[in-house]
Amino acid sequence: AVQKTYIMIKPDGVKNKHIGEIVNRFERAGLAVERMELGMVTPEQAAANYAEHEGKPFYNGLIEYITSGPVVKMIISGDGAVAKCRSLMGATNPADAAPGTIRGDFGLVMDENVIHGSDSPESAEREMGIFFA
Ligand code: CMP
Repeated sequence: AVQKTYIMIKPDGVKNKHIGEIVNRFERAGLAVERMELGMVTPEQAAANYAEHEGKPFYNGLIEYITSGPVVKMIISGDGAVAKCRSLMGATNPADAAPGTIRGDFGLVMDENVIHGSDSPESAEREMGIFFA
């Protein structure tokens, strides 16, 4: 089924100039960019997006990091877009991400892992509402 998913290139991905390569990978996989915007994440958006991690040891650093510089916010659509994007991104921890995946090729450490993508169609709906209200 055709789905939409929320994808965000994190501050390290923008800083290290991986925007073009990342968008290229999604397009080559047959997915389409529906919305795309470069800008800052507000503290409110960060808290809403990462509500499930509140109270975890890495939470404060995560919020500080995601609001530290410009990100690219995207809505990507296509057949099975949620799972397709997650497989293109690779494992959350770049150290575990396979070569050929976005995090495997460009990720440095767990906290700066290049990209965020919704983990289910339900999170996609929620996250698109947070970032493209
Ligand atoms: P993301 O998929 O954006 O969702 C939460 C982020 O928290 C995750 O990517 C990582 O960048 C970051 N993070 C840092 N430490 C951890 C951890 N121990 N477990 C999961 N996520 C972590």
